[in-house]
Amino acid sequence: MKVERGDRRLLMFQEIEKGGSGEEIAEKAGVSRTAVWKFVRRLDELGYEVEVDRRRGYRLVSSPDPSPFHMALAALKIPGVERYYHFEEVDSTNRFAKEVSNAVVFSESQSSGRGRLGRRWESGRGGVYMSLSLNMSIPVSEIPKVTLLTGLAVCKALEEYGARIKWPNDVLVGGKKVSGILSEFVGEEMAAKVVVGIGVNVRNRVPDSLRDRAISLHEVDESVRITDIFTRICEQLSNLLSAFPQKWGEILEEWKRLSDTIGREVRVSLYGEEVVGKAVDVDADGGLIVVSGEGRRKVISGECFYTNY
Ligand code: BTN
Repeated sequence: MKVERGDRRLLMFQEIEKGGSGEEIAEKAGVSRTAVWKFVRRLDELGYEVEVDRRRGYRLVSSPDPSPFHMALAALKIPGVERYYHFEEVDSTNRFAKEVSNAVVFSESQSSGRGRLGRRWESGRGGVYMSLSLNMSIPVSEIPKVTLLTGLAVCKALEEYGARIKWPNDVLVGGKKVSGILSEFVGEEMAAKVVVGIGVNVRNRVPDSLRDRAISLHEVDESVRITDIFTRICEQLSNLLSAFPQKWGEILEEWKRLSDTIGREVRVSLYGEEVVGKAVDVDADGGLIVVSGEGRRKVISGECFYTNY
């Protein structure tokens, strides 16, 4: 399903949510009464429950989870986002997001979810699998900042669960990974598209082989809803992207406040090279500063392991 900014279905949805007669809804959304009636039938097919009362009119009683229309409304509030795609299944939302622009892509499951460093991302139903595709005129060197910003957005969205960020962009709950981010860059310097993919374990079951390292939110909150997690991430992305790049300093400070890595003994590996020492800071480019007997080193990307765990 594709929903674009200004789509009449969104206006109808908002009015039905508030409640009103077919005539009122039709007028407010600028459509015919037949269009409202057809839309209510479509909502029913999608799992929404709409009460129809001869006197009071239509009113939304319950929504499915995920709820595509609530999610479209949240996604379209992100600055620069013009369209929202909702899939039941796609190979990878990042792969799809590269083919579209200024969009948020969500899928209920992925058949070939991609992780960092060429890994696979388990993408069974119940998770949040989303990608943000934005045309941004920023140099390639700024991409790590967008990745860090996204990690912060997810972490803030999950703050009630005590979420923390492990450098560069894993979000942890109770010390276990609940979310990962994969940023990709398409195009040329200053005329590029940034695709940031976010995977969050929400109601999906973590495979047994990963249970010591990964967690799904339903394990700490039985009533957690995919729609709410997605909506909160979009709200945080809206706030942070409106402040980027002008307020990068403040964003970074907040990242550090939620960092799980600063102060820990780490081993960071990137394509066979290893840096071992104490993580003491993240610099203005988002690089991790590691101090060891050999001195101070800056690591710009890689995989980080805690060695004093
Ligand atoms: C990681 O390895 O930690 C990053 C995982 C990123 C997974 C997300 S799920 C949505 C988007 N589409 C993909 O294929 N991957 C990212």
